[in-house]
Amino acid sequence: MRVVLVDINVSVVSHWAKGLGTLVRSGKVSLQHGSLEYFKPNGMLKSIVSPGNSFGFLGGGFDLAIQEYFGGALFERYVRYKLMHSYVPVTNCTVIPLEQFGRDDFQYLLHIPTVVTPVVPDFDRRDPVHTGYRIVFDVTWNALHSAPGDTEQLVIPGLCTGYAGVPIPVACKAMCFAIRLFYLEKTLSQDLINTMIMCFMGYQYGPFISEDCVAECEKMRVDWDTLLGFNPHTDELDSILPPGH
Ligand code: ADP
Ligand code: NA
Ligand code: NA
Repeated sequence: MRVVLVDINVSVVSHWAKGLGTLVRSGKVSLQHGSLEYFKPNGMLKSIVSPGNSFGFLGGGFDLAIQEYFGGALFERYVRYKLMHSYVPVTNCTVIPLEQFGRDDFQYLLHIPTVVTPVVPDFDRRDPVHTGYRIVFDVTWNALHSAPGDTEQLVIPGLCTGYAGVPIPVACKAMCFAIRLFYLEKTLSQDLINTMIMCFMGYQYGPFISEDCVAECEKMRVDWDTLLGFNPHTDELDSILPPGH
């Protein structure tokens, strides 16, 4: 599965470009600056992420663009019906087949609330790790792991970079980390992936960290002490990811 990152905001696109390491060059991820409505079909089966709210209304931001793209008010009704008109907690992903609303190779909507409602941002600059990096990582991680198996391209906009109010550098760094770890699942052990997630989120907990990770880090040329002391707000992703990944 490839990832297509699309956003109308050029700052979002340039922060992605900075944080993705070699993934763009290797063709696993592509970047598009522009609006959803100018998306060009290319014959690859697609799922699209809707960074929504807990009640399924599609009235703003990228959700509004999705609503307009897939059929307007009737499409919003369809999505809310598929969500059973009920509350969905932030970061929970619901896979909704587009069925008769599908167009241009799009088959599934991945609906993921990034806010309960857009009244007040959850982001608190006194604690960016838990109110920014962590939530954006979780949203991105859930999107990547919820895409149905026949998805050839997963289209993702900036997550939490609009109404949710997470600063763009914070949100993009967390997205890039989740995407890079996703593609490392074939290369690294599950234990090391888990350790990296703990360290990224500030939850380093010795009893949950396998001793085998030390040797694996050495083999992959990741500095163990740098990993254990990692802070996403001040440190570069490249400092804890294997060179070339
Ligand atoms: P969130 O609530 O997670 O912040 P938003 O939908 O408010 O989600 O914004 C997510 C991203 O979608 C933002 O980075 C914004 O620039 C982008 N966006 C909004 N409208 C469009 C559009 N028509 N095409 C592409 N990107 C868009
Ligand atoms: Na949202
Ligand atoms: Na939105």
